[in-house]
Amino acid sequence: MTKSFRIKSFGCQMNVYDGERMAELLGDKGMTEAKDGEDADLVVLNTCHIREKAAEKAYSDVGRLKKTDGTRPMIALAGCVAQAEGSEAQRRSDAIDIVVGPQAYHRLPELIEGASKGLRPVDTDMPAISKFDAMPARSKVGPSAFLTVAEGCDKFCTYCVVPYTRGAEISRPWADIVAEAESLVDRGAREITLLGQNVSAWSGENEKGQTGGLELLVRRLAKIDGLERIRYTTSHPADMDEGLIAAHGEVDKLMPYLHLPVQAGSDRILKAMNRHHTAESYLKLIERFRAARPDMAISGDFIVGFPGETDAEFEETLAIVDAVRYASAYSFKYSPRPGTPAAQMEDQIEPAVMDERLQRLQSRISAHSLDFNRSKVGETMSILIERQGKRPGQMIGKSPWLQSVFVETDAPIGTMIDVKIEQALPNSLGGRLKEKVAA
Ligand code: SAH
Ligand code: SF4
Ligand code: F3S
Repeated sequence: MTKSFRIKSFGCQMNVYDGERMAELLGDKGMTEAKDGEDADLVVLNTCHIREKAAEKAYSDVGRLKKTDGTRPMIALAGCVAQAEGSEAQRRSDAIDIVVGPQAYHRLPELIEGASKGLRPVDTDMPAISKFDAMPARSKVGPSAFLTVAEGCDKFCTYCVVPYTRGAEISRPWADIVAEAESLVDRGAREITLLGQNVSAWSGENEKGQTGGLELLVRRLAKIDGLERIRYTTSHPADMDEGLIAAHGEVDKLMPYLHLPVQAGSDRILKAMNRHHTAESYLKLIERFRAARPDMAISGDFIVGFPGETDAEFEETLAIVDAVRYASAYSFKYSPRPGTPAAQMEDQIEPAVMDERLQRLQSRISAHSLDFNRSKVGETMSILIERQGKRPGQMIGKSPWLQSVFVETDAPIGTMIDVKIEQALPNSLGGRLKEKVAA
């Protein structure tokens, strides 16, 4: 019998959330999580399929789990690679005992039982019944918690696998989300990040029968005592509404931070990506957020080297970076993914060209991040302490703008303290306790 388990999650925050829920489920069935360095009877690889490198990592990890004496733990391939490849994954590697997709992991206990009997179960169903209904109560809770409110994506950007690996867009019901948020706060969460591949498409009906979008939900969650901060990610520029923008100016607990990927700055490329927005409509949207909340930090995602992208079109991406002045942003080289329309497009870009573009883009983004961070030097801000730093006495917390802040303090994890910022780096801030500054 399998008694201990380890879950390794890759990819996006939704996978992190799913990993926590799987751990809670296995714990509820009497299994225990293996400590660092300890062998586990079962290893769940909760994988990501978004780019080729991420997907290949799943298989190299499977290989590494085989020990020199030939033994290995039971291996469950979960997440988006599992969904995309199904039983094909087991043909590629005979060490994969279980394949379980992101919408089927509530059935993990039965699948483990099957594997214990020597079967090689595969479950990539996307059942109509929500997996969340079959899950035990939340127990793995830190000061900053994730809460998945919407799953799947109907946008079908031409480069992206998510609509295939996560399925159609579904909003979790209002009452379930409110109950889960309350239980997270009861267990010590002070910040909740609402998650969805396309979280801005969330819609639902509240207890009064009013229907609405994310704004309505945010305003309700803001009433939970003990919850100090609300965030949401990831949004799509084509479905942001006035209500949510206004909420940023009105709801104190809603943090001044927006992750709004644009992907590229050229309208021709955006069209080929099937993004449903233009560079100009995106910039107008950012302006509206900044009008509601002038200190709004903007973050984004970029893809360089989409098929057919010319030098001039890439320059338009740099131009949008300068226009927005991102507080932070992720950027990636385009990776052709099986089954996506862009993988079939002509004019795939040479790797060397992509490398050069990525480097230029990243140095431009870093410069803006540093500017943004420098603008906070001298300011006193509230920090939510999340973990210990490397140096003795050092703790790391998050600012309202999602910057990591290093500070020397004996304040424990989960507390909120006022910190005066003294130092800015491209990816973090250094500060000092406010009381110490005054002394
Ligand atoms: N739902 C979110 C996040 C999707 S995945 C959104 O719409 O933005 C996170 C990021 O990975 C994307 O924003 C995109 O920048 C990047 N990405 C997705 N598919 C990719 C691919 N085939 N090659 C390179 N980057 C990709
Ligand atoms: Fe992928 Fe586009 Fe959906 Fe984001 S909006 S998950 S990039 S298809
Ligand atoms: Fe990766 Fe799946 Fe998330 S492909 S980015 S883990 S939705």
